[in-house]
Order: sequence, then structure tokens, then C-alpha cells
Amino acid sequence: MIDAYSEDAPASQALFERASGIVPGGVNSPVRAFKSVGGTPRFMVRGEGPWLFDADGRRYVDLVCSWGPLIHGHAHPAVIDAVQQAAARGTSFGAPTPGEVELAEEIVARTAVEQVRLVNSGTEATMSAIRLARGFTGRTKIIKFAGCYHGHVDALLASAGSGVATLGIPDSPGVTGATASETIVLPYNDLAAVEQALTGESVAAIITEAAAGNMGVVAPLPGFNAGLAELAHRHGALFIMDEVMTGFRVSRSGWQGLEPVDADLWTFGKVMGGGLPAAAFGGRREVMQRLAPAGPVYQAGTLSGNPLACAAGLASLSLADDATYAKLDQTAATIAGLATDALAKEGVPHRLNTAGNMFSIFFTAGEVTNYDQAKQQRVEAFKAFFHSMLSQGVYLPPSAFEAWFVSTAIDDEALSRVAEAVGNAAKAAARA
Ligand SMILES: Cc1ncc(COP(=O)(O)O)c(C=O)c1O
Repeated sequence: MIDAYSEDAPASQALFERASGIVPGGVNSPVRAFKSVGGTPRFMVRGEGPWLFDADGRRYVDLVCSWGPLIHGHAHPAVIDAVQQAAARGTSFGAPTPGEVELAEEIVARTAVEQVRLVNSGTEATMSAIRLARGFTGRTKIIKFAGCYHGHVDALLASAGSGVATLGIPDSPGVTGATASETIVLPYNDLAAVEQALTGESVAAIITEAAAGNMGVVAPLPGFNAGLAELAHRHGALFIMDEVMTGFRVSRSGWQGLEPVDADLWTFGKVMGGGLPAAAFGGRREVMQRLAPAGPVYQAGTLSGNPLACAAGLASLSLADDATYAKLDQTAATIAGLATDALAKEGVPHRLNTAGNMFSIFFTAGEVTNYDQAKQQRVEAFKAFFHSMLSQGVYLPPSAFEAWFVSTAIDDEALSRVAEAVGNAAKAAARA
């Protein structure tokens, strides 16, 4: 194990070069490539508790936690044991299993959903929820919010061009204009814009992140989520709460544990899979009963409810009690405090945004309640902060527009590492 850091990462560099020849951009999900911060993405070989170990033998305090799932840290013995036991029984059966029933029961017990369907990724969950909402209402259009990410579903890869209420423009080649035109993109936290859009259009569903975490963390303003539910229902649309990121992370029931809201459908992912591919969508029985084979709206999956993923998810949720969430909240507050104190000491303009135990620091003096404001930050300052932290053994999300995630595995040693690193990182940000 090497604890003396440098910018060089020869083993990661070699792997990245090999990968880049055969995998587009060298990675299997774009943000991993470090494109927005520059430098060589670290190839990880092992995780243990709060630590990640890269191919060069360096270890990092992990504040990404696989983009949210790992609330108990890496390789928690109970999760590993559950997966090993499940694997020994066979990896997939293509038939229903007891584990699926148990995981579905756990989700229903913790949340307001009455029925739930297991899928493999958050993208599948939101895609299926939208199809179901369209099938249920017989309508086509969807309202989403600029800066909210719901996976790489065609209908949801549209963002406002100019920050005003506008018909969606595709964010990616390959998404047809016809698909994008069925998506209305509105500014986050702006109920008046939603009311206006609903008056002119026949909308199938409003979808929102329960608390936005994909433009950096931007919590809903008081009354925003409840207002969306009320407006949707007044206009005959369904309300979909995307809890893929917040679900079972910010409380034992997710965001709805902090702010109960009258949604029709919810989507989950990340934590509920314990680090394996599992996700879900669920909601009111009347709506869910329209899903095949109970109803006509088709949805399926060869590996849905996979026994290994269900075992990891169940083990992870079983461990997630009130003490877990108290520890996550406390650790998030400690780390956010360390970073903001250091930045304040160096006079770096910044803004701490929190949503439960998810947080991010925007390098701007202004408030951030929507995507336009998030884009005002000085990304150069974040990059300098990020690279300084990385070279001192702290792994932050490699983008200024992402949430920082903590785990209960973060102990005093890991906290000391963060505390030692933030001073230099703040100095680097001040110079940038
Ligand atoms: C709120 C939200 N919804 C959906 C998704 C898509 O999930 P997945 O990456 O598992 O497809 C994400 C992924 O980060 C997310 O944060």
C-alpha cells in the first residue's frame, strides 16, 4: 500500500490506454472518464470499508460510494456473506425466487408503495414508470426538470435550451426530435412554470428527483414536491418521484421519510441493490395493476430480481437501521464542515447544498436552487480542489455537478485523512 501520492498513476494510465482502444472513451459510463476534471481515471481493484484501492496500490477515502449504493462502505461482511451464499445456490433461474418476495416486502414495508416491480437499473425503473404512466393515463407528454437526471432514457435525455419553459431539445444525437418533443423541460423549483405548462398541455406524468442530486445537490424548496403532486392530480397526470439516488440513503424510507409526498409512482435503485444491479419501481396498486401480466402495459427482464442482487440488497437494507442514518447524517455534516471551513479560511467563494446526508459544494457565492444557478459556479476551482484531494488520497466525485456520498464505514482514520487534505485543496482552489 502506498500512502505517498503523486499525480502519476502508471498502472491506471496503462489500463486506460488499453481500454480506450476497445471501449469508447475507455469507460463503461461517461463520468468515470474524468473528462470534466482532466487527468487519468483511477482504475480500482479493491474496496474495504471506507477505502478504495487503485491499480497503483494507493488507497483513497471513498466519497463516491459507487455513486450512492454503498451506505455501509465496501465489502461489508454481511453483504459479502449473503452474496456468497446466494451464488453457491446458483446465479439465475429465470423463475420467481423467495429473495424477490423478501426484497419487495422490505421495500413495501419501508415506503408508501403498495406494489413494486424489480428491474436491473435506475434507467429501467424510470423508463418503465413512464411507460406505465402513459399506459394508465392514455396521454403522451412528460414534464421533467432541467438538471434532473433520470437515467439515459430517450424521453428523459432532454434539457431546456435556454432555461425557460420550453419544449425539449434532444441532449444526445440518437434521441429523435419526435421523442424529445414529448418531453417538456421546466426549471427546477418553479411551480408557476409547471402550472402554466399543465394548462396548455395534456400531460401523462410529472417526474422529478425527490431531491435533485445530478446537478450537484439541490433540495426541493419547501412546498415544491407537494405542489407538484397537487398540480399533477388537478390536471389528471401522474406524479413520479425518482428516488433512485435518495431511496434508502437519506432515511430508512428515503426522501419520503423526510418529506412524505402524495406520489403515484416511485423509482428506486442504488442502495436497494447493495452494490449489485437491482432497481425497482412501484406505487399505487391501481396503477401497478396495469402492468403485465396483471394488465396490458408490457415490461420484462431476463435477469430482473436476480438472486445475487436481491441477496445483496436485502442484506444491505437489513443493516440499515436508525443508527445507520444517524451516523450517515453525522459523517456527512462533519465532512461538509471540514471542506467549507477550509474553503472559507482561504476566501474561496462557495455554497454548501444539502439534501439529507447527500451534499455538494458549489464554487459560487450565489444561492443554487436550479440548474442555471448551478452552472454559475467556477468549475476550474472545483477541478483544482478535486485533484488536490485525489493526490492526497481522497476520492471525490470527478465532476462539479455531482453529489458527495458518505458511508457508515468512514472512521476516525478516514476522517483524519479528509481533515488533512482539505487545507491544501482549498489553497489549490484559491489559486485556480
Ligand atoms: C435520480 C436518478 N435516477 C435514475 C438514475 C439512473 O440509474 P442507473 O444509472 O442505475 O440507470 C440515476 C443514476 O444516477 C439517478 O441518480
